[in-house]
Amino acid sequence: MTRQALAAILLFSSTLAGPIAAQSTLPATAAGSDLALSAQARAKALVAAMTRDEKLAIIHGYFPPMAKPARPIAMIPSAGHIPGIPRLGIPTLRESDASLGVANQIEQRKGDTATALPASLATAATFDPRIAYAGGAMIGAEARAKTFNVLLAGGVNLTRDPWNGRNFEYMGEDPLLSGVMAGEHIRGVQSNHIISTIKHFALNAQETGRTVLDARIDKAQLRESDLLAFQIATEIGNPASVMCAYNKVNGDYACENDWLLNTVLKQDWGYKGFVMSDWGAVHSTQKAALSGLDQESGQELDDAIHFGQPFDDAVKAGRIPTARLDDMVTRILHGVIAAGLMDDPVPESPREIDYAAHADVAQRAAEQGIVLLKNEGDLLPLAKTARRIVLIGGHADVGVLSGGGSSQVRSVGGAPVEISLTKGAAASFARMTWHASSPLKAIQALVPQAEVVYVDGSDLKAAAQAARDADIAIIFAWQWQTEAQDAETMRLPDNQDAMIDAVASANRKTIVVLETGGPVEMPWLAKIPALVEAWYPGQRGGEAIANVLMGDVNPSGKLPITFPVSAEQAPRSQPAGLPELHAAEARRAAGDTANYGMTGGVAPFAVDYSEGAEIGYRWYAMKQRKPLFPFGYGLSYTRFAYANLKIQDGAALTVSFDVTNIGARAGADAPQLYVEAKGSAGIAARRLAGFDKLTLSPGETRRVSMTVDPRVIARFDEAGRKWHLDGGAYAVTVGHFAGDSALRGVATLQPQTLKP
Ligand code: BGC
Repeated sequence: MTRQALAAILLFSSTLAGPIAAQSTLPATAAGSDLALSAQARAKALVAAMTRDEKLAIIHGYFPPMAKPARPIAMIPSAGHIPGIPRLGIPTLRESDASLGVANQIEQRKGDTATALPASLATAATFDPRIAYAGGAMIGAEARAKTFNVLLAGGVNLTRDPWNGRNFEYMGEDPLLSGVMAGEHIRGVQSNHIISTIKHFALNAQETGRTVLDARIDKAQLRESDLLAFQIATEIGNPASVMCAYNKVNGDYACENDWLLNTVLKQDWGYKGFVMSDWGAVHSTQKAALSGLDQESGQELDDAIHFGQPFDDAVKAGRIPTARLDDMVTRILHGVIAAGLMDDPVPESPREIDYAAHADVAQRAAEQGIVLLKNEGDLLPLAKTARRIVLIGGHADVGVLSGGGSSQVRSVGGAPVEISLTKGAAASFARMTWHASSPLKAIQALVPQAEVVYVDGSDLKAAAQAARDADIAIIFAWQWQTEAQDAETMRLPDNQDAMIDAVASANRKTIVVLETGGPVEMPWLAKIPALVEAWYPGQRGGEAIANVLMGDVNPSGKLPITFPVSAEQAPRSQPAGLPELHAAEARRAAGDTANYGMTGGVAPFAVDYSEGAEIGYRWYAMKQRKPLFPFGYGLSYTRFAYANLKIQDGAALTVSFDVTNIGARAGADAPQLYVEAKGSAGIAARRLAGFDKLTLSPGETRRVSMTVDPRVIARFDEAGRKWHLDGGAYAVTVGHFAGDSALRGVATLQPQTLKP
């Protein structure tokens, strides 16, 4: 039996008994299926044909692992299920997590594997929107073949803190880069005629206490940072749904936040799709509905099914107008129709998947996203003449690490190492998981004449001795990050700092490959000549790392987040709410068995994001702190030079310049344009205003041109609900990373006012 056939059986054998809800295209009302009408008009026609009960049923969804429906429903064990309405051709919504691939956390569907992309942060590091699109398109194709039609993807929360547990699932710290990359990813998913979300709206910037914390920030500055990333991604990707976040924003939960959902998203941005809640993020009926939430997800995780009976009661009592119910359903159906679910329904049973082709998509993303951070004396690429190479640590004999939580993919090839958690907020749904992609085998394949050996690094003396006996030592250092938890420190766990130090002392030719969810402290950096950030590199990570180390691929990844020297250099040195979390943990350790639901008993606290829009590299520049590696940084085995800057200014800003490969190898470069602008806080900072990714042969020159989205350099006026671009002079720099200024110029811009 093929793996696909097995997966197909397993996919459905673990569902509840009963008929599979039809995904049919039964004729709806004539208008509902009239392709000549707009999605909005078709959605409205369907709503007019729906009964009250049908409307009430579509605004809340099951969490299959906990669902107890009144009559059996065939649900795929996954994140969510909302029964369709066959008589109107409205499809059942089958929801799966999908940030990095079709997820299958803690193997809830036994044997159902999927292709695992590298961390989204690795995709962001490619600075290549085509890679983001290809990844999304691949995931969407697999999801469709597995009969899912709603993907909980499109994570675009900006990295405000280097230790945030979910940084690996997001696209970095810059609104433009994140917005473009997430938008392309979503566009790729939806090219399969299925729904993608964009999430988590908004300011879910840390995991500690995520369901109780109040994220406080100046509204205009939020518009200029996190919200701008969402706005750009929404414009590019057109996600059919927006997932609101767990946390509060300025006092109101994100899923009952009138300003976020009604004012910003629906009014200012004109968003026509639907807002679905995060799982367990709904706290009210009337307030949530009137504040803009359209659908309650994973209802069993909330303290009540707020959009079930209480919603019905509230409508009957006139506390929620019927018009609002109709609006909610119209929005859901708008998403369903606009994404293509009705006109091109997903198959009713699983289809074959071309896993080999999809693995190539994952490998390309990993190869393009790996960042070469240090390469003294051009130690890399490694000479293929090395006779003995030792790999140390990180289970590099069998696989590569992945990040934990709802994004966890059970990858094709399985999990050679899987470690359950004994405590912590992630314990119920996350395991430390390695994908079966062995760096050892991949390196050995590229240097067949060499002896490539592995030691696990737990014994420092043995590791040092093995390094001494080898020509080259390659350390695979890891830091596991997961949803629902933050790293309490930026130090590598498990005595790895001491191990790296010992190995580097034993062999000068020591290379460190990092498999981390973001930056870590590197007290040993001066002792090692070469450093590679491989992130969580996905199910072909071993091959990608090997190709970069051996020079079969010329590295071109750039950091999408700043790497500070230490946590002390960052805006917050550790997660806010740690005292509250530790108090809850202590109570539990002392025998408290109370069920606190999603909060875990953590007392509410606030986080003041006083850096506002000056996030990431802008913050380090403002504070004049020199990070270890800046945003946008990454080396290559060749070099690139920029020349002939031309600025076209006035009513709009377009910057063009030449990029030349001045080295001896072909390679790709990601030139970056920064423009100094003042946000609403009045702080002048260079903001990324353009980037490109291009491959050049040795000696080749190409001209690139970047037109600046004025919002990136404008300030938001919250009272007037408008963007303002002040007239005057703007410093323009082109560089290899934030703070670099290979080319400089000045643009003179006319004042402009833009809609929000
Ligand atoms: C996560 C979401 C995810 C959802 C469903 C939540 O805990 O925050 O990103 O989509 O679970 O699994």
